[in-house]
Amino acid sequence: MEIVNGFKLMDYAKEHQLVLPAFNTTNYELTAGIIKGYQEMGLGGYIAISSSNLKLSNPKIIADMVRSTMIECDTPIALHLDHGKSFEDVKACIDAGFTSIMVDASHLPLDQNIAEVRKAVEYCHFYGIPVEAELGAISGKEDDHISEEDAKTDPADVLSFVEETGCDLLAVSIGNVHGMDLSPHLDFPLLKEIAEISTVPLVLHGGSGIPFDQVRRAKAENLIKVNYGSDLRQAFIRTFGQAYEQNHNEFNVMQLSKDAIANVEERVKTIIKEVNIN
Ligand code: G3H
Ligand code: ZN
Repeated sequence: MEIVNGFKLMDYAKEHQLVLPAFNTTNYELTAGIIKGYQEMGLGGYIAISSSNLKLSNPKIIADMVRSTMIECDTPIALHLDHGKSFEDVKACIDAGFTSIMVDASHLPLDQNIAEVRKAVEYCHFYGIPVEAELGAISGKEDDHISEEDAKTDPADVLSFVEETGCDLLAVSIGNVHGMDLSPHLDFPLLKEIAEISTVPLVLHGGSGIPFDQVRRAKAENLIKVNYGSDLRQAFIRTFGQAYEQNHNEFNVMQLSKDAIANVEERVKTIIKEVNIN
């Protein structure tokens, strides 16, 4: 199947009443494990790459890799720019064939956040691509970027932010954190308040480590997308780490890469199933 347009994927989520996972990839093995997981579960979702990761592989390499890896896959998958940090990244990703974009200007003052998102929305909508924006700041570690900022989304800003930016999805900060080993305490009353105000569906970042029952509880509050990064990265790294611990002379990269794909696929299947159990 071709990479699916982000608006179509949002319609699919609404039609099937799903919370769609967005799995971050970094390399071929993560990509293959994610796509196999979607295929095996027969459900769609996002494959995402963080802006910071584009320093390692440019958007065209990522889009080509995803496109060719999902040829055999018949579930809808959108290719998403995660935490887009610059307008240049946004344009490069659209040019490369990404079908969903996040602009993360949440570290900027509110008026600048609005201006950055608005600019990207005008550009992306021209190409028929939806835009996710973040209001409030999520702390923790995302790839090589560490953020100490931790500002919960202020419900008072939600309606004007959505209206003025024209964004299509809203990432919220409600106690969720990036990274694996921080224990998040989701503020459900705040999430509910935001959901009642927001005219667009919500996104939860920092999925790794959040107990699945909490993600399912959040689903009731117009949650359409939940992001997973560290969880799969650990599954990948663990494969190589354990093999090395067992045998310091291990050099069978091909077998370990296959094992890593299988281990990532298992995590993907578990997450897809767990976030949507009713
Ligand atoms: O944008 C990506 C995510 O929010 C990933 O967060 O590494 O805590 O799963 P995580
Ligand atoms: Zn994130």
